[in-house]
Amino acid sequence: MNPADAVPRGHSPADVDLSVSVGTLRLRNPILAASGTFGYGLEFADLVNLKALGGFVTKGLSREPMEGAPAPRVCETPSGMLNAIGLQNVGVKAFAAEKLPLLRKIDTAVVVNVFGSAIEDYVEVIRTLEGEEGLAAYELNISCPNVKKGGMQFGNDPGLVSEVVGAARRAASKRPLWVKLSPLVTDIGLIAKAAVEAGADALTVANTYPAMAIDSCTGKSKLGNKTGGLSGPAIKPITLRLVWETSRAVNAPIIGLGGIESVADVLDYLSVGATCVQVGTASFTDPRASERLARELPKAFFEAKMFNVNEIRGKFDSENG
Ligand SMILES: Cc1cc2nc3c(=O)[nH]c(=O)nc-3n(C[C@H](O)[C@H](O)[C@H](O)COP(=O)(O)O)c2cc1C
Repeated sequence: MNPADAVPRGHSPADVDLSVSVGTLRLRNPILAASGTFGYGLEFADLVNLKALGGFVTKGLSREPMEGAPAPRVCETPSGMLNAIGLQNVGVKAFAAEKLPLLRKIDTAVVVNVFGSAIEDYVEVIRTLEGEEGLAAYELNISCPNVKKGGMQFGNDPGLVSEVVGAARRAASKRPLWVKLSPLVTDIGLIAKAAVEAGADALTVANTYPAMAIDSCTGKSKLGNKTGGLSGPAIKPITLRLVWETSRAVNAPIIGLGGIESVADVLDYLSVGATCVQVGTASFTDPRASERLARELPKAFFEAKMFNVNEIRGKFDSENG
């Protein structure tokens, strides 16, 4: 017997320490709800014990309010869903005036997702929020078209990633900056390095995959927009690989997400190098999915004889050479 096995490190799931550090930000556990699938968080306050989560990410906020895309905005696909919400949101000023005072009363980490169609838009949203209390971090959604570069996505080009992240970093002096990567890139390591070198404190991997679905009777798109973003269990194996590749390319903390529904999914993401995870589409079938995962996780760790999250992070590499 290994002498270390003789020393009991804990007697029950209650002895498992689930807290994690994402850079300087300490979370009570590694489960967050993902942007765009959890409203501004407030909508879930009567359904979910928000204090049981590591935190949640608000829906994307822009400089001005946005009405979003025409209906239908979501449709089911095998093992997943498509969405084309069009980034509808109340705009950063209304968020600060109406949502933030209520969010400040919630004892959990609130991360604000930020997007824009020009670098100045990202900077302006952050500047508006810098004067406000009660936020844990910014998450930059760079899977957006840059109108000044002919609609090319910020997240597809290391140079553009560097520019937008650098500008956001200079604006965000008060809080950690997470950068949410697009999955539709040739080499995610290159993009990840560009983001970290420009000042990202952590990387969220990843957003939805551009996709489409057609109604064969009418020949029309099942969405008001012609295309949308694919999410849910269908994308998990693809994104899992992206998280693994990102963890090999950079030293920064990674927040993994894509198709997480079960504790096994969470453990998979942690074992390929994620520090924590987000739960998106699963909240549509069960609004309490993230709370359930946070509740179930201690038992899964205990049964695997692990007592903190560091013990599983990166385990895949140590066991696969
Ligand atoms: C309806 C819907 C709206 C979303 N809105 C946003 C958004 O505003 N900003 C963002 O960065 N990601 C957004 N996402 C992407 C999710 O946060 C997440 O990256 C993606 O859905 C993959 O995770 P999942 O498979 O667990 O859903 C949205 C996803 C869905 C399904």
